Amino acid sequence: MNRPVPTSADQFSFGLWTVGWQARDPFGDATRAEMDPVHALEQLAAIGAHGVNFHDDDLIPFGADDATRDGIIDRFRKGLAETGLVVTTATTNLFTHPVFKDGAFTSNNRDVRRFAIRKVMRNLDLAAELGAKVYVCWGGREGAEYGAAKDVPAALDRYQEAFNVLGEYVVDQGYDLRFAIEPKPNEPRGDILLPTVGHALAFIETLDRPELVGLNPEIGHEEMAGLNAAAGYAQALWHDKLFHIDLNGQNGPKYDQDLRFGAGNVRGAFWVVDTLVAGGYDGPVHFDFKPVRPETEAGVWASARACIDNYLILRDKVTAFRADPEVKAALVEAELPELARPTLSEGEGWRGLLDWTLPDADRLDELATREVAMEKLDQLALEHLYGIRG
Ligand code: GCO
Ligand code: MN
Ligand code: MN
Repeated sequence: MNRPVPTSADQFSFGLWTVGWQARDPFGDATRAEMDPVHALEQLAAIGAHGVNFHDDDLIPFGADDATRDGIIDRFRKGLAETGLVVTTATTNLFTHPVFKDGAFTSNNRDVRRFAIRKVMRNLDLAAELGAKVYVCWGGREGAEYGAAKDVPAALDRYQEAFNVLGEYVVDQGYDLRFAIEPKPNEPRGDILLPTVGHALAFIETLDRPELVGLNPEIGHEEMAGLNAAAGYAQALWHDKLFHIDLNGQNGPKYDQDLRFGAGNVRGAFWVVDTLVAGGYDGPVHFDFKPVRPETEAGVWASARACIDNYLILRDKVTAFRADPEVKAALVEAELPELARPTLSEGEGWRGLLDWTLPDADRLDELATREVAMEKLDQLALEHLYGIRG
């Protein structure tokens, strides 16, 4: 088999917390040793990654003094220069420390909310300094287990306030950074605010600077909610809000599996790549996965490289699918080109529509029984995916 070769134009990137995950879970201790961030950079470069993403605490331990912090950043910066990796993205850990047990931006406690905003501001400075263009906001603790424990409208007011303050901060500091909200329906909280792409899109429009805020949809999170991830990516693109992506694998609505990209719902992954290619997504292709707990470090790098391989394999497949003359013909049979045509003619309006002769019973019958090629179309996609075409 010819392995596709990643290039920096592909912009593959990984979070430090993905390959560095020590595989601690609610039932068991870590199975892997702590990973030095510079070692992670070296190995990521070796597998063909272009960029890296990190939470403040992935790099600098929570509570580190200024001298320690500066030393770590200095070493990291050298690691970047030596490996050629770029910091595409950064984010804040607003979920590990017990102070965030009831949320960060939407904690019921005001001091916690103020502390959370300051923590983000501090890491925004570092993100800007290291050249990140996207700042991801995943509000894993923003939510509740019980109805009365969170006043949802008040929490949304505070969520909005936090993004307004942070937007103002970025503008005042002159940073070239945009925020990307990452929705998730649950875990670690029983229910999380802004649980899906749709909820987040609506929320963004209420902000003072909606242009500064977009989305970072994660495949697994949409699928945990029983949703079609590709359709979510498509709608985010349609709104011009797909600022970043978290690609991984998931097997249906259960706990957040964070499998390597391409594992889990393979058909879903095919359509996600098709959507990204068709929609012209040109940001970092970021993998947010967790190498499964039984693996050693060798398995970590094998699975990270597999994320890249699977993306490239699927990109070849969706390209071949779209170029296939039988697919093109089936698309026409299924009337896809017609959907691109406005329903009303230029200048027609509802008045013009009233002048249009309604279909008679025969015509309605003809329309109701018209041939479509949807099964054919999907089977063609499967045949490309299964590798017997293309
Ligand atoms: C998850 C989330 C997190 C976030 C990350 C960024 O799996 O629940 O994906 O991994 O993406 O922590 O803040
Ligand atoms: Mn996840
Ligand atoms: Mn994620």
